[in-house]
Amino acid sequence: MSVEALVLGIETSCDETGVGIVRGRELLADAVASSVEEHARFGGVVPEVASRAHLEAMTPTVERALATAGVRLSQVDAIAVTAGPGLVGALLVGLAAAKAYALALDVPLYGVNHLAAHVAVDTLEHGPLPEPVVALLVSGGHSSLLRIDELTGTPVQLGRTLDDAAGEAFDKVARVLGLPFPGGPHIDRMARTGDPGFVDFPRGLSGPRDRVEHPYDFSFSGLKTAVARWVAVRQRDGQPVPVADVAAAFQEAVVDVLTTKAVAACREQGVEHLLIGGGVAANSRLRVLAEQRAAAAGIRLRVPRPGLCTDNGAMVAALGVEMVTRGVAPSPLEIGVDSSLPVSQTLVGGAR
Ligand code: KG4
Ligand code: ZN
Repeated sequence: MSVEALVLGIETSCDETGVGIVRGRELLADAVASSVEEHARFGGVVPEVASRAHLEAMTPTVERALATAGVRLSQVDAIAVTAGPGLVGALLVGLAAAKAYALALDVPLYGVNHLAAHVAVDTLEHGPLPEPVVALLVSGGHSSLLRIDELTGTPVQLGRTLDDAAGEAFDKVARVLGLPFPGGPHIDRMARTGDPGFVDFPRGLSGPRDRVEHPYDFSFSGLKTAVARWVAVRQRDGQPVPVADVAAAFQEAVVDVLTTKAVAACREQGVEHLLIGGGVAANSRLRVLAEQRAAAAGIRLRVPRPGLCTDNGAMVAALGVEMVTRGVAPSPLEIGVDSSLPVSQTLVGGAR
């Protein structure tokens, strides 16, 4: 199959039903139906609600993507789908749909890793991925630092979070501050008018000993607790909580640690390129600080535009195109979902 493979990608690992259509490196359609509003009043994603919403949105979202792309299903060369990690019921809806399309169209199926797709999406905007690249993946469910020598191969995990994911910390702190779910975009917006130096919140795993024992690992749960305590003390004393300032100071603590460790990983691994992906990569302060610190260290930074950072189907299609183009053997139709698919497994069930 040529570089111009037409791939339909399906993403249903959390609360977004995403269908993307990519031809070569050209993004033809990126249709997303989100059930986020149905979860907002619960303060987090409710798995059963998400599964039902995927079921209802699946076919209309595929049809919308096809119409936007101006292609017919019969033209699709391969189907790529998120097989994990994520919510098991939600993943099952996407995989069942993907299998049905692959079978009906008689085209290969690629059951891919959601995290690798967060990396692959950048190829749609900035062209072929430099290899090796250090990838900082920060989302609602994951925070890890990887060295990727080959996009469709096995990444080397340099570090990961020992407790909360970065996005989870944003969501939990937003809740403490009375901001809606999901909290990341709200904290980002509030922080723009706040003072990042208002409180010096703790930088997790950044002490001298941590730098030796956990150079690339993260911890955000202590930070979250520190913010919650700070707010509780203010409330107990009957003082107003300066939401913008607390949001800015919290955000600064997160992005400071993320960028420091990511740049250190590049330097120590001798890798010139850094990629940031996942929902938290949409954060405006993270983008600015990463750019400054990468430039100061002589590292080239790649971050997809915010709309491609949060979950979508285009990222899955982009990884599918890489698989097809590099001649990777597809997944058998019998594959299942894996809610805790390890980051080392880029493709489920495929033989190389
Ligand atoms: O990658 P993603 O869409 O879904 C997962 O794979 O988890 O990431 C969602 C996470 C949420 O925690 C959300 O609050 C966070 O990304 N997020 C942000 C921003 N936009 C989304 N966090 C900080 N700043 C943002 N602008
Ligand atoms: Zn994600």
